[in-house]
Amino acid sequence: MQGDLSVNIRNIDYQFRNADAFRLQINGLGYPFNGVLGLYGLSGSGKTTFSKLLAGIIKPVSGSVSFIKNGYSAVPKIIYSPQFPEKILLGIHIGDTVQQIVSRNLADDGVYDSICNYLQKFSLDFDKIMDKSGFELSGGELRRLAIALSLALSPDLLILDEPTIGLGRKGKNQLYDILEEFRQQHHIMIVSHDFNLIRKICGHYWILHQGNLIFTGNLKALEFRPDIVEKVGINALENYFTENVKTEEMKTR
Ligand SMILES: Nc1ncnc2c1ncn2[C@@H]1O[C@H](COP(=O)(O)OP(=O)(O)OP(=O)(O)O)[C@@H](O)[C@H]1O
Ligand SMILES: [Mg+2]
Repeated sequence: MQGDLSVNIRNIDYQFRNADAFRLQINGLGYPFNGVLGLYGLSGSGKTTFSKLLAGIIKPVSGSVSFIKNGYSAVPKIIYSPQFPEKILLGIHIGDTVQQIVSRNLADDGVYDSICNYLQKFSLDFDKIMDKSGFELSGGELRRLAIALSLALSPDLLILDEPTIGLGRKGKNQLYDILEEFRQQHHIMIVSHDFNLIRKICGHYWILHQGNLIFTGNLKALEFRPDIVEKVGINALENYFTENVKTEEMKTR
């Protein structure tokens, strides 16, 4: 493991300019990362916004997000793998972009090999895509490329926003296998409106509803909150609580 990491959130408040309808407000939250964390909520509940705040991509209007790494106040390396990789990758040249990432991370001489290795695990051959532009890749290929680049940077905390969108069954299984290994050494947060996915991979959940964090805890604790389960549209509840399928399901495919 790259080390202990915990986050401390104090009274964050965020609103988009010219968009009064949505407001993200999280009061106090201290959380030591341990296992894979899942951020769940209905579409529009604020998951992507909250993730970007955690990653430092956007700043709260007020309040603060701070981290402690190995007992000391720190600015950890957080990589946010975007919900819409096409917004970033469509216009780029794959080979040049990988080259830029490698040269920006010269201190870590394993980055290039690591990118190729993760692409391989996702059945993408770097040699075959290096001369392409982003728009020449499919949605699933763009997703796998974005995730592979994020993994290769070996962050303290990897935030994967809706990582299975565009992936078929094979791609999802590859992702589960990759994360199973990656989680041994890194902290991961999975962001999804698909509770089934969160349940499979994550041991601890944060649940957002209309910009507010309404639950933090594990599946057992959620069992005692039928009000929340109903509010956030989690279906087939009995299956979640009766089956012990988390890791089994990941392995028996
Ligand atoms: N750049 C923006 N400008 C204005 N409003 C925005 C912007 N981005 C998001 N919003 C609004 O903020 C709210 C929260 O959006 P966000 O993308 O964080 O939700 P989400 O939970 O990630 O949704 P989804 O599951 O659909 O990805 C939504 O109502 C959305 O319309
Ligand atoms: Mg989102």
